[in-house]
Amino acid sequence: MKTHVRLHVNIDHVATVRQARRACDPSVGAAASLCEIAGADGITVHLRSDRRHIQDEDVRVLRGLVTTHLNVEMAATDEMVAIAMDLRPDTVTLVPESPDEITTEGGLDVIAHRERTEAAVRRLAECGLDVSIFIEPDAAQIETAAAAGAHQIELCTARYAVLTEAARGATVHRASRAAEVEAETARHRVAARHAAAAGLRVAAGHGLTYLNVGPIAGIAEMEELNIGHNIVARSILVGLDRAVREMRAAIDRGLL
Ligand code: PXP
Repeated sequence: MKTHVRLHVNIDHVATVRQARRACDPSVGAAASLCEIAGADGITVHLRSDRRHIQDEDVRVLRGLVTTHLNVEMAATDEMVAIAMDLRPDTVTLVPESPDEITTEGGLDVIAHRERTEAAVRRLAECGLDVSIFIEPDAAQIETAAAAGAHQIELCTARYAVLTEAARGATVHRASRAAEVEAETARHRVAARHAAAAGLRVAAGHGLTYLNVGPIAGIAEMEELNIGHNIVARSILVGLDRAVREMRAAIDRGLL
């Protein structure tokens, strides 16, 4: 049985607070180092095309500072591919982006955007970069991501997160809510098995919390979790060190 699932802390929202005032604080670099000291296995940031939180300079600073693993999420555009080839993060995760979204709304539809995705993966991989694609837990998406040459897929847990939140508050239909969560967890389990059989490493993320992370962490093929908002939100109350350690403990409980 596996004993460890990597925790990559997404620190986008440290930059969100800083950008609210276009100030210097809080420092994204300091936050990354504190996460590493607290036991994070890696740092994740999303360099959005609209630069609403993380800036190019943040990625440059983090590339020099992060000693664990730097994962940079980005759209599969020529601009972003050129930045990745220059800054060389340890992993590049291709994600969908739309200008009006509050946060990434779902996985990248690699079937609908096959040509563009394949071209981006090819350019990144040829330059020696590790490439992950953020997709829905769906067999056809997984096979297309594998055919495109990705090394890893990150399963989008957004729907799982919505269902677990609904189940938590449920006073009526509690059993059927719980059944929906179990069905969605099973969908991720099947997808993870499918991806591993296709030779892909398996990660997951989006909307994971201290309360819902356990069953996703417990999936046999799951190697890595990318978690941001819930950790950064809690860090405002208890500090970043404790917030990261508590998530580490919540993940580890899911492995029991
Ligand atoms: N993984 C991907 C690909 C994402 O786009 C995000 C959100 O930026 C996350 C993980 C982290 O999601 P959350 O902030 O809800 O934990």
